[in-house]
Amino acid sequence: MALKSLRGTFARRLLAWYERERRELPWRGQSDPYRIWISEAMLQQTVVATVIPYYHRFLARFPTVNSLAEADESEVLRLWSGLGYYSRARSLKRAAMEVVSRFGGALPAEEAALRALPGVGPYTAAAIAAIAFGRVAFALDGNAARVMARVSGEEGFIDEAKTRGALHAFGLALVPPGRSGDFAQAVMELGARVCVPRAPKCHLCPVAGVCVVRGTEDAKRLPRKRPRRAKRNVSWVCVAAERAGRLVLERRASPGLLGGTWALPSAEGGPDAPEEVARTALALAGLKLEALVTLPGHVRHVFTHLEVSATVVAAAVKGSLRSDRHRWVARGGEVELPLASFTRKLLAHVAAHGNEGASSRLTP
Ligand code: ADE
Repeated sequence: MALKSLRGTFARRLLAWYERERRELPWRGQSDPYRIWISEAMLQQTVVATVIPYYHRFLARFPTVNSLAEADESEVLRLWSGLGYYSRARSLKRAAMEVVSRFGGALPAEEAALRALPGVGPYTAAAIAAIAFGRVAFALDGNAARVMARVSGEEGFIDEAKTRGALHAFGLALVPPGRSGDFAQAVMELGARVCVPRAPKCHLCPVAGVCVVRGTEDAKRLPRKRPRRAKRNVSWVCVAAERAGRLVLERRASPGLLGGTWALPSAEGGPDAPEEVARTALALAGLKLEALVTLPGHVRHVFTHLEVSATVVAAAVKGSLRSDRHRWVARGGEVELPLASFTRKLLAHVAAHGNEGASSRLTP
């Protein structure tokens, strides 16, 4: 089909389907660019159902660009706790400051100006330009890339810039001027609900008639991915250092894994020598190990490139904390701090294995 007539047919059928089938989501029907920006920042790497409560809490606390620009970074991180990829939250805050200082608090409408903001990549810039400002732009996220790869029969590897460039150009050519925002969300919706990764529902697809691979094995095969590198498996020792009902937490260096969140002092090392590894982790906090007990079991957590198996030890310590990157936090007081899901798991493990009384079990 010639591109011009493909464009008309594709957009018409897709938008008619979207009008009928779309889910009511809190950021849909919004015209405030700031709200659309926050939703798109949260929706990168995170599924809709997870995002919704975070979106409401975040906007209740930071309803405007100005309120976010003036916020304390640790409060922003706390409202982000559990969403992962914490650099997104730190970038949002810095970008809000820039929007205030450079644009008087109003987000720019052009993709290029949006992309110059911290943390705003090509996907987010295109999504905001299209959804909030009606600009002709095409937001290529994972869902959109899958839809376009199948419709066009693209055989290139999806993780190559060249392939993504081709898919972006193909998608951009299909954008109906005047409906670019609905089009962007309709493509995402199709990718999330019909043109799904393993078992695409071609029989329900409104654009199957113009799709190169509809109903074939190729629909399941595309887009092509290079075989993944295996995640690295590492062992950590994480230390619950307790004194008078308080635990030591440390602020992780940023950028880096868990960057900017508060975590148990930890160091990489085998479960076979937890005492030595714990000494290292505590020394970095300025503390000396007096006694230690290893809690039963392990806490496992999967990060993007890493699979961690953590041995948790309860420790009695002496000495004073070295820097303001470390704090004594009363049990329960950690809820005031930005914590990652991994840290929450560790704290639950500590609570479940009762390190009340651990001091009495600690062996010097
Ligand atoms: N994923 C990314 N952006 C989205 C949006 N606006 N609606 C639903 N899912 C999305």
